[in-house]
Amino acid sequence: MNVLVTGGAGYIGSHTAIALMDAGHTVTLLDNFANSQPGAVAAVRAIANRDVDFVEGDVCDEALLGTVFAGQRFDAVVHFAALKSNPESFARPIDYYRNNVGGLATLLAAMAVHDVRTIVFSSSATVYGTPAKVPIAEDAPTVPLSPYGRTKLAGEELLRDLHGADNRWRISALRYFNPVGGHPSGALGEDPRGTPGNLLPYITQVAVGRRPHLQVFGQDYPTEDGTCIRDYVHVCDLATAHVAALAHLATTPGYFVHNVGTGRGYSVLEVVRAFESANGVELPYRVGPRRPGDCAVCYADPRRAQEELGWRAEYDLKRMCEDAWRWQRGNPRGFQAEE
Ligand code: NAD
Ligand code: WQD
Repeated sequence: MNVLVTGGAGYIGSHTAIALMDAGHTVTLLDNFANSQPGAVAAVRAIANRDVDFVEGDVCDEALLGTVFAGQRFDAVVHFAALKSNPESFARPIDYYRNNVGGLATLLAAMAVHDVRTIVFSSSATVYGTPAKVPIAEDAPTVPLSPYGRTKLAGEELLRDLHGADNRWRISALRYFNPVGGHPSGALGEDPRGTPGNLLPYITQVAVGRRPHLQVFGQDYPTEDGTCIRDYVHVCDLATAHVAALAHLATTPGYFVHNVGTGRGYSVLEVVRAFESANGVELPYRVGPRRPGDCAVCYADPRRAQEELGWRAEYDLKRMCEDAWRWQRGNPRGFQAEE
């Protein structure tokens, strides 16, 4: 297939671009570098060892999308382009809705005009909010707790309504749990701007000496060691879930929602220890107060993806820690060094 990857310079988009090429697809990446660097595109080209098409631009730009779709025939779009910070979304709701919901609507309109009706959409476990029970299945209630989460749910609803209006559409919404790690080459990984909000990039920046210690957000949760439990999934596993979703859509029209997680949860302190033992480094940490909005335990029921897509996560936590560290150790300042 010829696939347009929006947000293709981002963390998950860049890894998925590699997986798509590994599976024999051709990709064009589109990104406005709102939260990424040209170095990521260079890394994708280096790993793939070929010249990958890249369009610098915004998915909210109708004219640009018209040009992109008129320029070549795409079979499918994998849509990553979005803003993704829960805390930032409280301060910038208009930007989040305009970018994440407006951008999706603009993209879908351009796809329809050019008769491209297959899309894989990046959704998130954040749509579940605080789960009533774990593991979380896809039919669990969706009660997102942030404007960001609500834009992801709105995106799903737009897509479901679109399929209701025109059943030629083939739509896959993938609800990612906690993506971590990097490409095994060490040339591609997570490169957040500013202070990392997520656990693994914070840990790798402590390990590489950019930050003095990790702050553990609360040790008074009702879990064995008192810290929160999450379902960490290797970004390369996440990437192959998109390949599987596209293969499934090729044979099965419809609107589908799948969790993408391992089905196994680890506490913050288990991740700290796994990182230390996988990489032979010491991670100073201090326990601080809870972070508002965190739930105690969140992990996926991944069975639907296994049954319908034939996908399951292959990499364990040790491998996630090794690959996250290989990237950060080799690129202490991320892609900035290449600018
Ligand atoms: P990321 O920020 O690394 O990647 C998103 C990319 O989209 C960035 O390169 C950014 O520059 C680009 N972008 C943003 N707005 C754009 C626009 N209007 N036009 C063109 N490009 C634009 O984030 P990521 O972690 O790779 O996330 C990818 C997708 O997965 C997002 O939709 C996110 O909401 C979703 N998601 C991420 C996580 C996670 O923990 N990383 C979890 C669940 C879902
Ligand atoms: C994991 C655990 C923290 C940082 C987020 C988004 C969610 C989705 C995935 C996009 C929690 C603890 C963290 C730190 C810590 N993204 N922690 N110290 O919150 O499960 O999910 O990413 O869709 O929407 O909310 O991931 O990596 O931020 O936190 O103790 O410095 O690590 O409290 O228990 P989270 P996270």
